[in-house]
Amino acid sequence: MTLGKKKIFLALIIVGLIVLFSECINSKSGNDPRGRAFAGSASCVKCHQAICGTYLHTAHYQSASPGSLSTIAGSFSKDSNTFAVNDSVKIVMEKRDSVPYQVMYVNDKEKEAKRFDIVFGNVKGQSYLYWKNDLVFQLPVSYFTALNSWTNSPGYTVGQVNFNRPIVERCFECHSTFIRQVAQQSAGRQIENAFDKSSLIYNIDCERCHGPAATHVNFHAAYPEEKQARYIVSFKTLSRSQKIDMCAVCHSGNKNIMLRSTFPFKPGDSLDNFMQRVYSPYDRPDVHGNQSQLLAQSQCFINSNMDCSTCHNTHVKDRGNHAIYAQHCMTCHSEANHNFCKMADTSNISFLKNNCTRCHMPAQPSNAIVVQTSKSNTNIACYIITHRIAIYPKESEKIMSEEFNNKNHHQ
Ligand code: HEC
Ligand code: HEC
Ligand code: HEC
Ligand code: HEC
Ligand code: HEC
Ligand code: HEC
Ligand code: HEC
Repeated sequence: MTLGKKKIFLALIIVGLIVLFSECINSKSGNDPRGRAFAGSASCVKCHQAICGTYLHTAHYQSASPGSLSTIAGSFSKDSNTFAVNDSVKIVMEKRDSVPYQVMYVNDKEKEAKRFDIVFGNVKGQSYLYWKNDLVFQLPVSYFTALNSWTNSPGYTVGQVNFNRPIVERCFECHSTFIRQVAQQSAGRQIENAFDKSSLIYNIDCERCHGPAATHVNFHAAYPEEKQARYIVSFKTLSRSQKIDMCAVCHSGNKNIMLRSTFPFKPGDSLDNFMQRVYSPYDRPDVHGNQSQLLAQSQCFINSNMDCSTCHNTHVKDRGNHAIYAQHCMTCHSEANHNFCKMADTSNISFLKNNCTRCHMPAQPSNAIVVQTSKSNTNIACYIITHRIAIYPKESEKIMSEEFNNKNHHQ
């Protein structure tokens, strides 16, 4: 490519990224629902192009999106769009003028039809929300990726569903960038699921983690020759607990005692001012992410200075890449350091070196969510990777026998 063509090509990429970032973000520059201190993620593209490009593919960027046929993972085709609740009640996923709906039929008579307005999730599954004026409720049917199937929404008793489960601000605090609750009372009490619709910022955006950045953007736009970051918190300068709190604000499960909304949390803040965290030695992986508590119980964590970013590059989708994660383990555990895996011998070492986490951080059934499908009445547990790094003899044995007894299988 010539230099001129290269420049045009780059400009096109930048314009494309800005469009992609703006699609899911309601705010025009300087008009962010969070206030004037925020610039909006579309404005980061100009100077942080590479990060913005990979970030689009992450679970964080896809954590919440507007409901549409392109964002909903489940099928609308006639042979697989029905969830039978019981013998007389069913929910059918229907397209009406290209708009997706969940429609409840009782003895084949239509009783209720609500739009898929908001989608939560894009990895293990999806749950859907709808607006009724300025109130938000959950739709009765969700989607479970492992089964590629519609299921009952978590929290509903098998054989029963309705359209009345209110969705409170707390869900949005972890799954989106922002939404503003509106004051609305019923019998003298604040209604917990009333929001200003236009204030919703989907996804988890750059400033949700990095804090308000309008001054940073304005400064660097005015002084392009300045290569030293200004008016933005530098991760490197944070203490270990401040680094972890940046993630734990959403990754410490939902059993904590909340003191206030976590929307205003910014890097450098102490999470103790927002919640009283609950630790239990009996914790199991929780579907709403108690990774920080589980990790804190690991010998690796107790005996080192690791934080979440020791293993995770949050701007990149690393899901399922066992070899990359093993590299992170081996920054501390190596033959040279004499603290390598005790299982290792010449026959298995190359396999071990690419798969540390599969044995030492196995997926375990979560006790927080069990789903039911239309076809079967058996409950299916959702598997979550544990962050309590340890020796798991049963899982290790299973992986070793899968790997070395089945000659057709190569890793
Ligand atoms: C006009 C250019 C410009 C824009 C727009 C911009 N930045 Fe930056 N940013 C910089 C420069 C220059 C640096 C320092 C060099 C580097 O780390 O890339 C920087 C560094 C950073 C750092 C690292 C700070 C550190 O010390 O570790 C973060 C975080 C950051 N920017 C976030 C953002 C976010 C979020 C946005 C959008 C809201 C944004 N930036 C928009 C120019 C810009
Ligand atoms: C504003 C809340 C929030 C913050 C802050 C946050 N996360 Fe997340 N994170 C989530 C949610 C919600 C999901 C699940 C998204 C989904 O699957 O829809 C998630 C998913 C993840 C995943 C799984 C990715 C995948 O591909 O399945 C990893 C890893 C992760 N977060 C690490 C981190 C780390 C490390 C930090 C801190 C640097 C962090 N998160 C900060 C809310 C947050
Ligand atoms: C404390 C933060 C937090 C709260 C509160 C929370 N979630 Fe989550 N949720 C998460 C995290 C983190 C994950 C990803 C867990 C993982 O992959 O380990 C998740 C996963 C999910 C998933 C599966 C997404 C996927 O891509 O696999 C759905 C759907 C979901 N949550 C919906 C909700 C709803 C609805 C509410 C409110 C009733 C809610 N969450 C409350 C943090 C939270
Ligand atoms: C889930 C939280 C999270 C989100 C969302 C996030 N970042 Fe970061 N970012 C981090 C963490 C943690 C670091 C420090 C990584 C390290 O030093 O190991 C970082 C580092 C950076 C840096 C400096 C280091 C580098 O890699 O150049 C820049 C610039 C940056 N982020 C920009 C952005 C932009 C732009 C976005 C939105 C597209 C974004 N970040 C979204 C957590 C996040
Ligand atoms: C920042 C350094 C560091 C990283 C990264 C790290 N560890 Fe460790 N790990 C340690 C330390 C320190 C110990 C305590 C024992 C010791 O001193 O050797 C330990 C202990 C362990 C133990 C023994 C656990 C027990 O309960 O007895 C296992 C197994 C282990 N690590 C596996 C892993 C795996 C797998 C990874 C990658 C997912 C990993 N470690 C990443 C530092 C680290
Ligand atoms: C020692 C390495 C290590 C550290 C430190 C670490 N993680 Fe992970 N994490 C992993 C591995 C490995 C996976 C599984 C990735 C895969 O296979 O896709 C994972 C997966 C996740 C997931 C997705 C869980 C699921 O079931 O899909 C979330 C969320 C997450 N980590 C958050 C965090 C947070 C928050 C922290 C800090 C409190 C953290 N992690 C620290 C190694 C680590
Ligand atoms: C196939 C499963 C499996 C894989 C893959 C694996 N390990 Fe292990 N690891 C084990 C088992 C089982 C033990 C306990 C062996 C024993 O005590 O005889 C162990 C022991 C260890 C120990 C010693 C803990 C102690 O008691 O001090 C460390 C450290 C460790 N592994 C780290 C790693 C690292 C790092 C990797 C990747 C390079 C890795 N393991 C890959 C199964 C595995």
